[in-house]
Amino acid sequence: MGKKARLIVRKLTTDDAEVASDLDLKCFGEFDACSSKYFFNVAQSSNWECLVAEHDGKVIACAIAEIDNDTAEIGSLAVDPDYRRQGVATILLTKLLRAIVRRGANFVVLEVRLSNTAAIELYKNFGFQIVEREEDYYWDEDAWIMAREFS
Ligand SMILES: CC(C)(COP(=O)(O)OP(=O)(O)OC[C@H]1O[C@@H](n2cnc3c(N)ncnc32)[C@H](O)[C@@H]1OP(=O)(O)O)[C@@H](O)C(=O)NCCC(=O)NCCS
Repeated sequence: MGKKARLIVRKLTTDDAEVASDLDLKCFGEFDACSSKYFFNVAQSSNWECLVAEHDGKVIACAIAEIDNDTAEIGSLAVDPDYRRQGVATILLTKLLRAIVRRGANFVVLEVRLSNTAAIELYKNFGFQIVEREEDYYWDEDAWIMAREFS
């Protein structure tokens, strides 16, 4: 990519539902991906903070989190494989966390596959720590629960 200036971060809308679920499918596979109906619903929900990153008019990344008073849970973070290792997730997650904190949450939690080194490294960079192992969280693997407090 190399042209971060052309990266636009904006809110996910119901019009993005199809494209967001296609991206999820590409990133997580058919057993883990969220459906277009799911994205359609979260895009309309006031409990969710949902962002997409666009490059040259194409949605290349998506990040969503559910906010429940002082706690937020990251539901999905996905970057198109063609645009990885170029700081896209870093940009998107920075904006998502800012929005979450602005909305009053100060504790952010997420689940990640034990084998997902890329995501674990990314979240550690953001100050998240592993707090617990959740057995059978995924259909074929355990999850690390990672969390970060914001003061
Ligand atoms: C995890 C994911 C979102 C990272 O997106 P990205 O845009 O490539 O991430 P960034 O370029 O912002 O990377 C930031 C840092 O994260 C870490 N990181 C990212 N990908 C990595 C990898 N493949 N291996 C090790 N560390 C990695 C590095 O520390 C990286 O910094 P560096 O490039 O300076 O070394 C992306 O790989 C993805 O969509 N994976 C599939 C979906 C997924 O697993 N989502 C998370 C679910 S919990």
